[in-house]
Amino acid sequence: MARGRFVTFEGIDGAGKTTHLAWFRDRLADKLAATGRTVVMTREPGGTALGESLREILLHQPMDLETEALLMFAARREHLAQVIEPALARGDWVLSDRFTDATFAYQGGGRGLPRDKLETLERWVQGGFQPDLTVLFDIAPDTASERRGAAREPDRFESETDAFFTRTRGEYLRRAEEAPYRFTIVDSTQSIEDIRKRLENVIASL
Ligand code: TYD
Repeated sequence: MARGRFVTFEGIDGAGKTTHLAWFRDRLADKLAATGRTVVMTREPGGTALGESLREILLHQPMDLETEALLMFAARREHLAQVIEPALARGDWVLSDRFTDATFAYQGGGRGLPRDKLETLERWVQGGFQPDLTVLFDIAPDTASERRGAAREPDRFESETDAFFTRTRGEYLRRAEEAPYRFTIVDSTQSIEDIRKRLENVIASL
């Protein structure tokens, strides 16, 4: 069977991507059913037992910025080796809630780690490997922060300021501009129905 495809979902906290992921997975699985391929749904940081342990630490334990970036990429290396690469080689599709664009956006844009350091780690961990498609849920930081509300105890990223998320969003948009063939930008302020229509078209184009 031909190699599968790798699709990632991105956006700042509160952009609403999680709402759309499960729906996208089900629609994609329906479309692929006849071909014998399945959809593997996963997330970063996480996706493996080691990755989920690192996620706990990354989301809750204070640390140096470079440590944070290194741990993100360590979790990613494991994720690629244990989950993503084997699934794509089997011909399955992989749908990941975040990937490397999040590191450029959060650790690079948000926290200010120089881009060339991240590019070095990216080359080391994934060579030239990139998602086939990245759906970026775009929203203004103040709207996103209203949406996040006070539903639960915020983690180390969710508790960041609007200024942090303005930089994070800016880096996401910069990356989308740099690689337009891979990115689809969805305006997160649209209704759920309108976003689904848009995603339906994205699935059809795949
Ligand atoms: P997220 O995936 O949005 O999960 P939830 O919706 O359950 O909070 O949370 C993961 C957090 O990790 C998110 O705030 C972004 C951050 N993150 C980075 O800072 N760098 C990365 O490379 C990745 C993958 C995530």
